[in-house]
Amino acid sequence: MSEQSNDTSSTSRDASTEDASTAAAGGAPQRVLITGANRSLGRETARRLTRAGHEVWVGARDAERGAAAAEELGGRFVQIDVTDDASVAAAAATVAAAGGLDVLVNNAGILGPKKPLAETTADDLREVYETNVLGVVRVTRAFMPVLQESAAPVIVNVSSGMGSLGRTTDPERIESKIVGLAYQSSKSALNMITSQYAKAYPGMRINAVDPGYTATDFNAHSGPQTVEEGAEIIVRAAQFGPDAPTGAYLDRNGTVPW
Ligand SMILES: NC(=O)c1ccc[n+]([C@@H]2O[C@H](COP(=O)([O-])OP(=O)(O)OC[C@H]3O[C@@H](n4cnc5c(N)ncnc54)[C@H](OP(=O)(O)O)[C@@H]3O)[C@@H](O)[C@H]2O)c1
Repeated sequence: MSEQSNDTSSTSRDASTEDASTAAAGGAPQRVLITGANRSLGRETARRLTRAGHEVWVGARDAERGAAAAEELGGRFVQIDVTDDASVAAAAATVAAAGGLDVLVNNAGILGPKKPLAETTADDLREVYETNVLGVVRVTRAFMPVLQESAAPVIVNVSSGMGSLGRTTDPERIESKIVGLAYQSSKSALNMITSQYAKAYPGMRINAVDPGYTATDFNAHSGPQTVEEGAEIIVRAAQFGPDAPTGAYLDRNGTVPW
C-alpha cells in the first residue's frame, strides 16, 4: 500500500524563495522540535526551518542517525522514541532545560503491515496506533507545559489524505482506490485528536496537515511529489502566527475535507 494523493499536477513553489520571504517578513526565530527528523519529510522540514533561521531540535529515535542529521542540518539532536514514555519524558526535560519550545511537529509515523483487510489483526492496528496515534498524544502531553510558556505556541500533526473520510470515499480521488484498516484509521484518529486539542487550547495554533503522496522510504519512493513539495505544508503550518487557522486540516493547496 502506498501513501497516495491525486495532487500530482500542481507546481511547487521554489523552496528557497519561500524561505527567503519568511525571513523577509521578519518572523521571529522559533524553537522547533520535529519528531522523526533524521530522514525524509521530517528531515526536509528540519532543513527548511533551520535555513529560515529557526532553532531546530532534530528528534530521532536512533542516536547515531539523529546526531548525524542534526550536525549536517545545523540543528540540535534530541533522542525521542514516540512509543517510549521514558524517552519522551527525557526529551521534554532536555528541551525545557535548554530554554523552551514554540513549535512541536509530530511527524514520526509508520505505515504498518501491508496486508489484505481480512488478514489484518487487532495487533496490527495496535502497532500502528502506538506510533501514529498514541505517540502523538504521548509527545503532545509531555511537551504541553513547555509549549504553554511560549508566546505563540504551534503544533503541527502530520496526518495524511488517507485519513480523510471525504477523500477516501470520493471516487475521483486516488485515496479512495486503496483499502486498508490500520494506517488509514490511525490518521483519522489523529485528525480528531488534532481537532480536540485545538478546541482545548484556543491560544495555540494546532493543525493537521497532509503532505500528499511523496517519494520517501515510507513508500519505496513511489510518490510523485518531491520531499520539498511534501514538506511545504508542514513548513508553512510550523510558521503559523497567532492569526493563522487552528483546528484545520490542510494540504499545500488548501483545506482537506475531514
Ligand atoms: N510519504 C508520504 O507519501 C506521506 C504522505 C502523507 C503523510 N505522510 C506522513 O508523513 C510522516 C513522515 O513520513 P515519511 O514519508 O517521511 O516517512 P519515513 O520515510 O518512513 O520516515 C519516518 C520517520 O519517522 C521516524 N519514526 C518512526 N517511528 C518512530 C518512533 N517510534 N519514534 C521516533 N521516530 C519514529 C523514522 O525514524 P527511523 O529512521 O528511526 O525509522 C523516520 O525518521 C508520517 O507521519 C507519514 O504518515 C507521508
